[in-house]
Amino acid sequence: MAPRCWPLYGLRITTPRLELRLPDEELLEELVAVAASGVHEADDMPFGVPWTDGGPEKRARTTFQHVLGTVAQWQPEKWTLSLAVLHEGEVVGRQDLTASDFAVTGEAHTGSWLGLAHQNRGIGTEMRAGVAHLAFQGLGARTLTSSAMTDNPRSLAVSRKLGYLPDGVELAAVRGAARTLQRLRLDRASWEAHRSVKVELHGLEPCRELFGVARTASA
Ligand SMILES: CC(C)(COP(=O)(O)OP(=O)(O)OC[C@H]1O[C@@H](n2cnc3c(N)ncnc32)[C@H](O)[C@@H]1OP(=O)(O)O)[C@@H](O)C(=O)NCCC(=O)NCCS
Repeated sequence: MAPRCWPLYGLRITTPRLELRLPDEELLEELVAVAASGVHEADDMPFGVPWTDGGPEKRARTTFQHVLGTVAQWQPEKWTLSLAVLHEGEVVGRQDLTASDFAVTGEAHTGSWLGLAHQNRGIGTEMRAGVAHLAFQGLGARTLTSSAMTDNPRSLAVSRKLGYLPDGVELAAVRGAARTLQRLRLDRASWEAHRSVKVELHGLEPCRELFGVARTASA
């Protein structure tokens, strides 16, 4: 897909093992297949919105609509960047970065998942470090937030490693039951102090307007 009218298709975040990019039609096909293959065990539900319920076909369609919906609904004042995560050229999961009034607050929120076969190999840490770099280094963020069920040790471990601090809890009704979410917060100083993944950004300048932030003076 030509990125001319939608420069976000030209944005790339690279880490030592990964590339994160807005999926074109071909990569979106791969991403929905990963979602269909499973993101967690059936008796588990790590998400506040249980989008993974309902079987492979429904997961595929939900993922397809989610990614295209983020493009269709994008506004500089309210956006979600929904990136496919590629490991050795293969799509393994999704990493989202969401913000409302980012130009004013400097705050964005992350959410992510990997296909079951790709979990617990450090990929989740590397992809979150990638979007944290985009937020802080690329877009000048002040804070990043995240949240995870209190019984999701992997997600909580990723946040802890990257320097997020606990920021209270909240309850959510999930599958008709009350679940506790741990809120997490990463400020710029803590991000700097915990940076350990080398990240590069490519193709960001033409996207700045869409993110609601000014172009850099040199661009
Ligand atoms: C959450 C998720 C994105 C994390 O990605 P990942 O690649 O699995 O995570 P990583 O391998 O980078 O890091 C996981 C860490 O958790 C630790 N961990 C794993 N199982 C653990 C357990 N049972 N108890 C404590 N720590 C645990 C690992 O040791 C690792 O820490 P380390 O690097 O210090 O050893 C991924 O597991 C996933 O997609 N899970 C299902 C969907 C999900 O939960 N999404 C997030 C919703 S908030």
